[in-house]
Amino acid sequence: MSFDLNSLLRPHIAKLQPYTSARDEYTGKEGVFLDANENPFGSITEQDFNRYPDPYQSALKAEIAKIKEVRSSQIFLGNGSDEAIDLLYRAFCNPGKDNVILLPPTYGMYEVSASINDVEIRKVALTEDFQLRPEEILKAADANSKILFICSPNNPSANKAKREDVLFLLQNFKGLVVVDEAYIDFSDEPSFTTELDKFPNLLVMQTFSKAWGLASLRLGMAFASEEIIRILNKIKPPYNISGLTQDTVLAAIADKGKVERMIREILDEREFLQGELEKQPFVQKIHPSHANFLLVKIPNATQVYDDLIGEKVIVRNRAKVLLCEDCLRITVGTREENEVLIKALVKVNLKIEK
Ligand SMILES: Cc1ncc(COP(=O)(O)O)c(C=O)c1O
Repeated sequence: MSFDLNSLLRPHIAKLQPYTSARDEYTGKEGVFLDANENPFGSITEQDFNRYPDPYQSALKAEIAKIKEVRSSQIFLGNGSDEAIDLLYRAFCNPGKDNVILLPPTYGMYEVSASINDVEIRKVALTEDFQLRPEEILKAADANSKILFICSPNNPSANKAKREDVLFLLQNFKGLVVVDEAYIDFSDEPSFTTELDKFPNLLVMQTFSKAWGLASLRLGMAFASEEIIRILNKIKPPYNISGLTQDTVLAAIADKGKVERMIREILDEREFLQGELEKQPFVQKIHPSHANFLLVKIPNATQVYDDLIGEKVIVRNRAKVLLCEDCLRITVGTREENEVLIKALVKVNLKIEK
């Protein structure tokens, strides 16, 4: 399939002259820096934050490139994945004219961000077992369908999409295909980053918020062709990733063994939690999980959810979400937290049955 990125791009973005920051204009490290209106005396805090950070996060990208086996020029870093989602809409979707294809039930920000940007949403529901409907997706698309969002492993269903379905869509969908892999580290599925050189219409999103345990730092990654990354860089706020985030994540990557141990622990706990839930007569179904949470069907889910709050255990009520009737989404906790959850679930269900 021939793919013309320029025909997808909004014309005014193609023409845009981006802001050039002080750190764009002079990239040297030595000298008396009087070009960015910074405070020369340091910071009010113990640690100094008075200098603007690298706008293109070069040192951090070089390390991410190594662990993700991509080129630095294929990486965009955002203030969480949510920033990349918003920038994609702003770059490619003309408000009131273009549309995007969403596959519910899925991550809510694709829809919210589309609505913020006044972009039409076309929904093609997943199957009962949360798989894609590739033919229906293509049927729903037209010449104004700019982006297809595929979340795999999917939130809230926790399963992974069939690889052949995603590949089929990459070959046949005429717009950008975004594969959101926020939970990929908890799956046995290889990342779609391995397909980047084959598919110029592919953008893969990952995040430091889940497996790396850095949700508060806000660091999301997008991997795509150099052309797509150049567009995102052109329209992002100049200093979108703080110096603190860049330095902290660089140090975290240097200690990569730790994240592998944490993932192993979460996977062990997922197995423990699943085993304990399976023993409970009130649990109707636990959907197969490739993520750090379980989607669990429990009768009277909303009542269970409310009563769990009474026990100071907070899960996510997904009972009103398409195909998730009577389902709670439960994040895998520590062993202690998982035991507290199971105890509370038993208690509230005994009360409900009475
Ligand atoms: C599928 C999916 N993508 C993206 C995100 C957000 O990631 P970030 O914290 O990088 O904005 C989430 C958060 O829950 C998610 O479930």
